[in-house]
Amino acid sequence: MPELDPETVHTTVLLSETVELVDARKGGSFVDATLGLGGHTEAMLAGSDAVRVIAIDQDAQAIELSKQRLRRFGSRVEFVQANFAEIRRVVGKWRVDGVIADLGVSSLQMDSETRGFSFRYDAPLDMRMDPAGGIGTAAELLERLSEIEIADIIYRLGEERSSRRIARRIVEKREAGAPVKTTLELADLIKRSVPFNKKDRIHPATRTFQALRIAVNGELDILDGFISSAVDILKTDGRLAVITFHSLEDRIVKRAFQRLSGKCSCPPKIPQCVCGAIKLVEILTRKPIVPTAEEIERNPRSRSAKLRAVQKLEQ
Ligand SMILES: C[S@@+](CC[C@H](N)C(=O)[O-])C[C@H]1O[C@@H](n2cnc3c(N)ncnc32)[C@H](O)[C@@H]1O
Ligand SMILES: [Zn+2]
Repeated sequence: MPELDPETVHTTVLLSETVELVDARKGGSFVDATLGLGGHTEAMLAGSDAVRVIAIDQDAQAIELSKQRLRRFGSRVEFVQANFAEIRRVVGKWRVDGVIADLGVSSLQMDSETRGFSFRYDAPLDMRMDPAGGIGTAAELLERLSEIEIADIIYRLGEERSSRRIARRIVEKREAGAPVKTTLELADLIKRSVPFNKKDRIHPATRTFQALRIAVNGELDILDGFISSAVDILKTDGRLAVITFHSLEDRIVKRAFQRLSGKCSCPPKIPQCVCGAIKLVEILTRKPIVPTAEEIERNPRSRSAKLRAVQKLEQ
């Protein structure tokens, strides 16, 4: 593989906004739950000599590249290859001043020629962020699930209106003894299943690829639990900042923050609250923070980013 430069492989989104929201300049201990290529962690470490970071990523390659990039900070940063669903175990008995999560995939993953995240390269349909993590590949998912389950994933997680037609074609191919195994096979099949629309600005396979990636890595399933655990490990006044990249993720984060801020979720007609809502955090972002026009211009991938944050209250 060619030498990769961690500083240019992935452009960090909402960098100063996130570091400011968790108030890292005052020093303290932080968790970067999605280290990636280390952009947020580097900014926190460079901003104050009194910052320490536990840096988590489930992708071994991301950890390796970030280790190079962050070498100059020595033992102020500790690297842990793990799923952030395990943040409580990783941090142990420590309590921290801030947690950052910048969700989804990095450009390192998206632009890989071999890992199957992108239809720009012909590769096995893999899409696992942690290939050693014991989960199935996207190709395996398409072999295992029923036509309805495949259509449901593509519709829900990709908001793809032609989901049923795509699922039908996938299963037809499978039944003919030629299951979809590569990125280009899938992209080609989608192109033939989706009606051509001149106004579409994105490739017709984009939505389906996004849906499969989210399903393969169980990205939405762990989010709510992660947010509860992250708040749990914060000190009083500690902050959690989360960046999402699509509406389903953002909705989960928004609802989790509302729940943790004590918003009652009882049905409207009940005379007294029975849901047991407790106020653990203050919401710091009534409206999500979004990238400036200048950032979007510089880094189009930031287009859909939304940043929300909470601060833990004294219990
Ligand atoms: C958008 S990138 C983070 C980029 C980083 N903030 C930077 O500036 O370079 C997201 C990273 O989170 C990792 N990731 C996504 N879901 C994860 C999970 N459940 N557990 C651990 N890491 C995860 C991915 O492997 C990827 O490297
Ligand atoms: Zn209630």
